[in-house]
Amino acid sequence: MVTPICPFATLRLMEHIDVMRGRRILLGVTGSIACYKSVDLASKLTQAGAEVDVILTESATRFVSPLSFRSVTGRTVYTDMWDLSDHVRHVGLGETADLLLIAPATAHTIAKLAAGLADNLLTLTTLAARCPVLVAPAMDGGMWQHPATQANVTVLAERGVILAGPAEGRMASGMHGKGRMVEPDDLFGNARLLLSRQGPLHGRRVVVSAGGTREAIDPVRFITNRSSGKQGVAVAQAALDAGAAVTLIVTPGCEQWPFGATVIEVESAQDMAEAVLATIDGTDVLFMVAAVADFKPESAAERKIKKSDDSDEGLTLVMTRTTDILMAVKESREMSGYPRLVLGFAAETHNAADYGRDKLLRKGLDLIAVNDVTEAGAGFAGDTNRVLLLDSSGIVEAMPLQSKTGIAERLVYHITAALNDDRSSSD
Ligand code: CTP
Repeated sequence: MVTPICPFATLRLMEHIDVMRGRRILLGVTGSIACYKSVDLASKLTQAGAEVDVILTESATRFVSPLSFRSVTGRTVYTDMWDLSDHVRHVGLGETADLLLIAPATAHTIAKLAAGLADNLLTLTTLAARCPVLVAPAMDGGMWQHPATQANVTVLAERGVILAGPAEGRMASGMHGKGRMVEPDDLFGNARLLLSRQGPLHGRRVVVSAGGTREAIDPVRFITNRSSGKQGVAVAQAALDAGAAVTLIVTPGCEQWPFGATVIEVESAQDMAEAVLATIDGTDVLFMVAAVADFKPESAAERKIKKSDDSDEGLTLVMTRTTDILMAVKESREMSGYPRLVLGFAAETHNAADYGRDKLLRKGLDLIAVNDVTEAGAGFAGDTNRVLLLDSSGIVEAMPLQSKTGIAERLVYHITAALNDDRSSSD
């Protein structure tokens, strides 16, 4: 029986979050032209540190060779249930896996799984598996729409199998329709999300803001700042990896949203203030990583501002203050109690620790990550950062220069510890 129960051990509070490392992923590949994409998927999973065991059905071997998978995973590839070189292989493979991912899954294999058949090593192993099962259908659009296939996927979903796709687009037949296998990057994201489900922030709700706001001057111009959004996106990914449900509030230009986050796109400080205040109720943590404009043009021109050829006159913009989002959060939190914890950022060019401490107290933060954006390797552009993490009693950790991912993981580590303290003090 396919089961939704996730049996892998609850992950402890981790110094370093590495969702994939050492996890055992069984990749089942069935006979579809999308097989070639599964080689890429197996490679991505392996590069991320997972141990990937591949089972190919006989039809899959017609599209792609076991050697291709062996070459990228460095492990034995299984094809034959009658190869008796090890004892009860299907039980061994199924019971020790952290995740069974069947991609591509043909209409035929889906039908066999729904019926509980066990006529090849993959279907046999699926019956023996006690881990989450993720299935990525791939077939012709008409086959996908067929009531038989729809009934079969409904049965699988009711049993707790997670379905990824199929996607819409150009099919092997040359026609356009729904039936394409979801792309390997999305399947990787799905697998990462499933493997992090039992992490230390499991059951926690986290809101992260990222990027730099844009304040309109006219319909074609705006004022912004140098924030790339990378640090905020890294925090969102680290929180997801720790098992949290994450809402990411992002400005334009932030690329590569983490898979599995609920994303709210905003532009101005006002948009961001509204989005943050609308999402924090009932949440555990707000990471306010965004660089929010403090000033905006008093009014944005409705039409493009034109220069005059007859004069050298400049343009004077009158600026007004924007809402300080963290101050508004402080006020609402005093009444609602949410978010339970708030972590702010402080981008400084001098006296970083002093200004950071002042912001922590003024804005009622639990933690503040201070960085001196003038230091080499720290701040807005680039993939690295250096952060001084403070709470009301002083330095929590001076984080040396490292990747923004590394910084994000440390922040999530400290916030998890603080949440656990909070829980034990309220017990
Ligand atoms: N912040 C905010 N609302 C604003 C400006 C900033 O919520 N209108 C938040 C940022 O997201 C960050 C923290 O406040 O978490 C500190 O931001 P920073 O720009 O360093 O400080 P400011 O409060 O804007 O003060 P100053 O620019 O004078 O240093």
